[in-house]
Amino acid sequence: MKFIVVLSLAVSLLGRDPVRTRKAMVVAQEPIATDVGVEILKRGGNAYDAAVAVSFALAVTHPTAGNIGGGGFALLRTASGEANFIDFREKAPAKASRDMYLDAQGKPTRDSVVGWKASGVPGTVRGLALLHKKYGLLKWRDVVMPSVKLARNGFVVSYALARGLRGGERLLGQFPESKRLYLKQGNFYEAGEVIRFPELAKTLERIAKRGPDEFYQGVTAKLLAAEMAKNGGMVSEEDLKSYQAVERKPILGSYRGHEVIAAPPPSSGGIGMLQMMAMLERLDYAKAGMGSAKHAHLLAETMRRYYADRSQFLGDPDFVKIPLKGLLDPKYIASRADSISLDRATPSGELKHGPLPAEESEETTHLSIVDEKGNAVSLTYTLNGGYGSGVTVSGLGFLLNNEMDDFSAKPGAMNMYGAMGGEANAIAPGKRMLSSMTPTIVTKDGKLALVIGAPGGTRIITGVMQAILNVIDFKLNMQDAIDAPRMHHQWMPDKLYLERGWSPDTIEILKKLGHNVETGTPAVSNVHGILVEDKWLQGAPDGRSNGKAAGY
Ligand code: GLY
Repeated sequence: MKFIVVLSLAVSLLGRDPVRTRKAMVVAQEPIATDVGVEILKRGGNAYDAAVAVSFALAVTHPTAGNIGGGGFALLRTASGEANFIDFREKAPAKASRDMYLDAQGKPTRDSVVGWKASGVPGTVRGLALLHKKYGLLKWRDVVMPSVKLARNGFVVSYALARGLRGGERLLGQFPESKRLYLKQGNFYEAGEVIRFPELAKTLERIAKRGPDEFYQGVTAKLLAAEMAKNGGMVSEEDLKSYQAVERKPILGSYRGHEVIAAPPPSSGGIGMLQMMAMLERLDYAKAGMGSAKHAHLLAETMRRYYADRSQFLGDPDFVKIPLKGLLDPKYIASRADSISLDRATPSGELKHGPLPAEESEETTHLSIVDEKGNAVSLTYTLNGGYGSGVTVSGLGFLLNNEMDDFSAKPGAMNMYGAMGGEANAIAPGKRMLSSMTPTIVTKDGKLALVIGAPGGTRIITGVMQAILNVIDFKLNMQDAIDAPRMHHQWMPDKLYLERGWSPDTIEILKKLGHNVETGTPAVSNVHGILVEDKWLQGAPDGRSNGKAAGY
């Protein structure tokens, strides 16, 4: 008995309780936005109303990634069990061309990362409108107006926001409107000050009154296209007018008795997670022992194999044929898993994408919401890098994405996340760039079990998967599963990135196995999740972030 008391004390000292509620839960990366979501639910809105309201609120309170100038994905499961995926990923403008980011020597330039040329056609407003129209209960105006009020009346700058804005100085300082709005002309916002965004308030109010067409065909569209043309950007009125968000079928898979509802392409995350989980199940990962060298080795080797496939096969399904069946074929998975040695790391240089069996025929933000009825949504959206391209459109008050960098500027070239892309992800007008965003929902025996996702570039896929595995395999609560130290491998560069918290003994063994270990890695994504267990909802923002879980 004494032993049990001591043990449970040790566990509670190590761990952190999630927020627990009975009925509804909102988890988002910024606390004011979480509160907006809870308020919407209490006013009779459902999870989808709340997701739209939280997303618009994040566009004000979390400018590094919350946006109306970017794009993303929403994965949802209704209380009746219908699963759907809304793709509002940005698209390459009509003027885009395959080699547009190569200099005279054929080397990739920084134009895909910084400035007006870096932006794809934004999808956020269309995507949120589609989610709301198809699944929401409240009026559109009611879900957009909280963000208008936040932008107009202002809100108190948190320590995290003040630090984040300062961190964005090098990028934001290059563009006069961004410097004025976010950096106070170089005087910087301090925690505790009130920050206001009057131009953004007006833009959002027009969207609240006139609907999404305002962004794509109204005053906003005209102003955005005119500023683009003036500054050498590519997005035109025609690009905006023709942009549509689309519904896609989620990919379904399983892991150790759980059903996994995963994001389809142009997300690379769903396929990746299902491939890696299938290999891990075959390799008996659950028995590896949490924190052991075997745990990290098996993860690294499966990650390495998936990312080799990712670079070769994945892109926009509207433009390239994705060998989905082949990538998830049990025989193929078995051959990939069986090529893993327990005694030696596979050098990435020795590993290529697999020969598939013939077929029969990067700063981002995330929110997870479950409502009283059991409707669930996992929504990830982004400007790509923190503060996107750094450009704020004069008079409109919002930042633009630098999502064009998620294309492969040329086969074999690395993007800002070090991800290598191939032909399948080459630039073409109207094409969606490949994404790592991995909103995911897990069910058990047909009942909702987990709603989860993350920002973090290529580290999203591995971060989300590790949090899910920590729940299923190591029986951690939602908060501990998310806070536990993570690792990442993406084939190229051939490095095993370890966050702080891995034991020195484990690290030594991994080095002996031949892994190129890099320790002290910055956060491997920021996972935000909800676990449904014993009629309780466990809400957990990532302990690495300033996020908040709240509900009732
Ligand atoms: N922009 C990060 C991603 O979509 O993967």
